[in-house]
Amino acid sequence: MNQFNGVTDVTDYYQAETFARIKAFADTRETPFVVIDLPTIGRAYDDLVASFDYADIYYAVKANPAPAIISLLRDRGANFDIASRYELDKVMGLGVDAERISYGNTIKKAADIRYFHERGVRLFATDSEDDLVNIAREAPGAQVYVRVLTDGSQTADWPLSRKFGCETEMAVELLTHAQALGLEPYGVSFHVGSQQREIGSWDAALAKVKVIFERLQQEQGIVLKMINMGGGFPANYISRTNDLATYAEEITRFLQEDFAEGFPRIILEPGRSLIANAGVLVSEVVLISRKSRTALHRWVFTDVGKFGGLIETLDESIKYPVYTEKSGELEGAVLAGPTCDSADIMYENFKYPLPLDLSAGDRLYWLSTGAYTTSYSAVEFNGFPPLAEYCIGE
Ligand SMILES: Cc1ncc(COP(=O)(O)O)c(C=O)c1O
Repeated sequence: MNQFNGVTDVTDYYQAETFARIKAFADTRETPFVVIDLPTIGRAYDDLVASFDYADIYYAVKANPAPAIISLLRDRGANFDIASRYELDKVMGLGVDAERISYGNTIKKAADIRYFHERGVRLFATDSEDDLVNIAREAPGAQVYVRVLTDGSQTADWPLSRKFGCETEMAVELLTHAQALGLEPYGVSFHVGSQQREIGSWDAALAKVKVIFERLQQEQGIVLKMINMGGGFPANYISRTNDLATYAEEITRFLQEDFAEGFPRIILEPGRSLIANAGVLVSEVVLISRKSRTALHRWVFTDVGKFGGLIETLDESIKYPVYTEKSGELEGAVLAGPTCDSADIMYENFKYPLPLDLSAGDRLYWLSTGAYTTSYSAVEFNGFPPLAEYCIGE
């Protein structure tokens, strides 16, 4: 992919034939909506499996819970990382067995644990004493893995540190206690932060995991069986990352260094990297204005905004490539959504270069928007309906 020079070149993001298919479909619909190209997800899944041929894939359903996506991944043999009983019902309703499910949310009610257990789920994440005790009571005999804190927040575009995970010492205590409570101390998980640009973050996290594996074996005689390396793999946005093959090569090397005598079971929980690049959010320019006759930049208001699916523009964290068919001279613009809320501004510090001949009614194509858009969309803010989604191509 080329360095961003202000003009978004669609061929940096999609095969020409794929974008033509998305565009042809989009031309027949009223904006705003997301089009998901299913064959692109199929290819991303196959690439991931080929790059990490020793790992089991658990798709993080939160990235995009569309039934067509879940069904596609189900048929390809994926497992599923589930965050709530609602996701569980949806995925099991599509014919996925409980053995293919991990309850990956460390924040849950005792009643939720009971519900998962009753439906046959046996694999649970935890990071606290109270949650562990609840799991022992509501899901006796379950396999538990403990999530550790990671330190990738400076280099992840969408960090997940602080809220989830515990320190190494506590992870050792929890896994030891799990055994005493009649649970199976199964492994350790981490998430280095979503859209993690620094591959070394996995190295630092694996070093912690290795210490936990060794201490439990030496001090308690407990042999852990699994490492869950989470998600964090990249999608193609404006800020460049290495490609997935480079991530896989490096991470595999870190594993070989730390677990030279053989890998335990390895789980990956990708969301963004599998789905984002398959989606295009199509919006329309509602209004273009300047705040004074001499203002140096325009405000471009579109019919989609922070509350309509673009919440990851919070703090301008994720910078989506935006494509327009207008090709006039560029000028930086503020990009904002349609609601009566001043938080509904996507990019203000980063003045988005847009053509001067752009006008109301023109379409803007937000590329790489398949993940974390529809599932974040508000249900009725200012009366706007949730972001529509169409899955095509299979
Ligand atoms: C537990 C867990 N696993 C996996 C993921 C997916 O991460 P990503 O979309 O970066 O691949 C998330 C994202 O929030 C998560 O919370």
